[in-house]
Amino acid sequence: MLILGRCCNSAMFNIPLKRRKRENAYPSGFPLPECLFPDVCVFLVERRMGSGRRNFLTALAQRKGFRVVSEYSDRVTHVVSEQNSSSDVMAWIERLTGQPVLSRETKDGPHLLDICWFTESMSSGKPVVVEPRHCLGVVQPLATPEKVLRTQMPSYTCQRRTPLNHHNSTLTDALEILARAAFFQSSEVRYLGFTRAVSTLKSLPFKLQSAEEAKDLPWCGGHCKTVIQEILEGGVCREVETIKSNEQYQAMQLLTGIYGVGVRTAERWYQEGIRNLNDLKNTESKLTVEQRTGLQYYKDLQQPVTREEAERVEQLVKDALLRFSPDVQITMTGGFRRGKLEGHDVDFLITHTNESALTGLLENAINWLKSKGLILYYHMKKRKHTSHAVSSLMDGHETYYTICALPSSSSQNTDLEVKPHNFVAAEQMACLKSQISKGWRAVRVDLVVTPHAEYPYALLGWTGSKHFERELRRFSLHEKKMSLNSHGLYDTEKRCYLPAHSEEEIFKHLGLTYISPSDRNA
Ligand code: UTP
Ligand code: MN
Repeated sequence: MLILGRCCNSAMFNIPLKRRKRENAYPSGFPLPECLFPDVCVFLVERRMGSGRRNFLTALAQRKGFRVVSEYSDRVTHVVSEQNSSSDVMAWIERLTGQPVLSRETKDGPHLLDICWFTESMSSGKPVVVEPRHCLGVVQPLATPEKVLRTQMPSYTCQRRTPLNHHNSTLTDALEILARAAFFQSSEVRYLGFTRAVSTLKSLPFKLQSAEEAKDLPWCGGHCKTVIQEILEGGVCREVETIKSNEQYQAMQLLTGIYGVGVRTAERWYQEGIRNLNDLKNTESKLTVEQRTGLQYYKDLQQPVTREEAERVEQLVKDALLRFSPDVQITMTGGFRRGKLEGHDVDFLITHTNESALTGLLENAINWLKSKGLILYYHMKKRKHTSHAVSSLMDGHETYYTICALPSSSSQNTDLEVKPHNFVAAEQMACLKSQISKGWRAVRVDLVVTPHAEYPYALLGWTGSKHFERELRRFSLHEKKMSLNSHGLYDTEKRCYLPAHSEEEIFKHLGLTYISPSDRNA
């Protein structure tokens, strides 16, 4: 449709694309082109209009003999904008030129006009007389829906929807780097500040146009606002670029990417001079079994698990569990339940209406998988949960953290041959080929066992995202005086647990609108 539209316009006006571009890029310091209305000089505000529509309107006006300039200067008599208030337009031009816009009331400033003046002028074939209804006016117009969304965005992530795909990834990618750097420095306050700003921007149902707009958004002021402003105006943020090229940041990123390595270990290794995996291999004696395994399968574990692979893992897990207990209930949780197409692992929640059926079940299943050579590593965390929920941080389901050997699917071989140019980086392609030649790949799989009565809480807790969970617990405690974890919800004032049969019921207990898993990608 778009392409068709462009062809039509081009044909209708019969102007070669190149010429239109040159006219639109007409610089302000040069004499202006011949025109039919020498007293009128139009400047179209690109903000909200977009460059495509601005180019189209420029060409249209120029064909009708209007002078339209691409850069703002004192010669401009008519500023035309779409869906902006006068203060928005003035602030935007001021940022663009570094100069304030002269006011029309006290000085000989330009008219600040709505697009309706432009369209009426185009259909009249001449500039129409400016009437009050054409003017943006000095008072703020009624709030636009975007403004309403900005100013009314709830502060807690669990009070709003955060879909998987959003509109502000340039900003969130940059802020996530700052969050990670703060995390590596164990600066929790800064880490949380950046993470909350990221989550706000992911919830925004439109692309943020200016840092000014960010001021209404929760957690997007101060340092974050500066980052947002730098990126929106110049495309990059210097602080982020510096971090990305910082040796310690790069080493921390690499080392914490190893299974079983946390920030403290990585930090210690860095201080000892370890910068990469080779340095680490020479000091292997210092590693725990978990870390040695992480290093051994590093490449496989770095490669994202696809949904198709996750489904094959699910089949394996089901095969193993169902042979010991036919009525066991198995649910894939984590990022895949939120609709992600890739993950760093696959998470499963296992329950049974008859609690005794769960005793020893996972152990049997793991042993069976081991006997088939499908378990490369595992460690188990025993159930550790006291009857009174006093801490929302204490989650103690019986959990098996495993690394499985997932056999390659029969279609994988042909996939690679059919799609040799599918934009997979060379290293990733080499990793895929090695997996195919060995016939399997290593995949992290977390298996969590929960008593049936706690299942909805465990499901909510293991669906994530991590930040969504953190916010849900903060909201419960601060706003409702309730302690939430993946075992239950405890009302600290009434001193009782609130049982639930579904996730919906838990949201209801907390007085929150239900948020479906696909909208929990905070
Ligand atoms: P993950 O770390 O697996 O994250 O934890 P994810 O969202 O699935 O991301 P990818 O796709 O794997 O990269 C999933 C959820 O399980 C909880 C976390 O809080 C998160 O919400 N979790 C994880 C625990 O409660 N305990 C754990 O030991 C691990
Ligand atoms: Mn996961």
